[in-house]
Amino acid sequence: MTSPSRLIESFEHQAEACRRLESPMYGAMLDAATEDLSDGGPVATIVEGFDEDPVSAALPLRLMGGVHRLVLMGLAERLARHYPTVGGSPDLDSIGRDFLATVRDHPGYLRSGLAVAPQTNDIGRSAPLLAGLWAVAGNAKRIRLLEIGSAGGLNLLLDRYRYETSAWRWGNPASPAVIEVDWSGPAPQMNSRMSITSRRGCDVSPLDVTDPEQQLRLLSFIWPDQLARFERTQGALAIAGDEPPVVDRSGAPAWLEAALGEPVERRTITVVQQSVMWQYLDDASKRSVDALIESAGERATRSRPLARVSFEPAPAGYGGRGMMLRTVTWPGGEDRVLGRGHPHGAWFEWEPEVR
Ligand SMILES: C[S@@+](CC[C@H](N)C(=O)[O-])C[C@H]1O[C@@H](n2cnc3c(N)ncnc32)[C@H](O)[C@@H]1O
Repeated sequence: MTSPSRLIESFEHQAEACRRLESPMYGAMLDAATEDLSDGGPVATIVEGFDEDPVSAALPLRLMGGVHRLVLMGLAERLARHYPTVGGSPDLDSIGRDFLATVRDHPGYLRSGLAVAPQTNDIGRSAPLLAGLWAVAGNAKRIRLLEIGSAGGLNLLLDRYRYETSAWRWGNPASPAVIEVDWSGPAPQMNSRMSITSRRGCDVSPLDVTDPEQQLRLLSFIWPDQLARFERTQGALAIAGDEPPVVDRSGAPAWLEAALGEPVERRTITVVQQSVMWQYLDDASKRSVDALIESAGERATRSRPLARVSFEPAPAGYGGRGMMLRTVTWPGGEDRVLGRGHPHGAWFEWEPEVR
């Protein structure tokens, strides 16, 4: 049974983190939740008996996701006026009171929502991933795209989005998903002739992005004052409705072993892509994934090359801000860092170097 002080600590820390990450509205709501917990109010009633560690299970964000779902479903009128995702604008003086009233009105729904762990699938990461794909594909026309840790697979559809960066623009101007990036450095070499001839991903806990319930869940974990993120995800969901990405339920090593063992057509590059998933793998799985890709790399030929594109926190000893875009290409195993970027793709510094 979690101690009341650990519960309070989890809400306090999350309030500070949200303020630091530029979500003043979640900061104010979580302050109200922290105070309410100390007073034994409606938040205390809802989280009572939560049997995981509230910090590592991100309990406060589970609660905020449930509240956001109520707002998106039109069931929390009083709170909705603060939520940019439904056309509102946060009033930090009254949002705490309106939040607590909503929690008081929906205890059953919010309590059952605590079972849902936050899961995101951010297409802001498609900008660095696409630049990495262009870099490894060169003039190749046919690409077989494999992704590990896909969540809903929205980054498998990276060639369906519109990119509006400060250095380059690319993609269908009519795409409902527009990704804006503050890009420093030159534009990457683009390849509009390429065609992703097959695309498939895996995840231990895949999201079916064509299921309205799971769509709502995905949207609810986007912080409501991050409107651009919310809107581009809505756009990506619309695209995925016409072209659903295939995401198999599997851990990365077993799935990659099977996928990398499949026959590949000539003149096709196989690209393994990953973003913000590496930290969830245990050491044995990391070693297996590395070994599987390297051994497939040894089998790669000029007409059936292989590449790995990753957008992940920099490994130890390779400090610096943001996530690191790294590529390795076979035959040869050339290992390059192409730059660094914001975890959700808000900015990117393109600075290619061979490691
Ligand atoms: C933060 S999300 C990133 C999702 C997506 N790559 C993106 O950038 O939006 C991390 C994903 O990794 C998945 N994951 C965790 N452990 C995994 C494993 N062993 N094999 C495959 N996927 C895993 C999680 O379920 C989650 O969907």
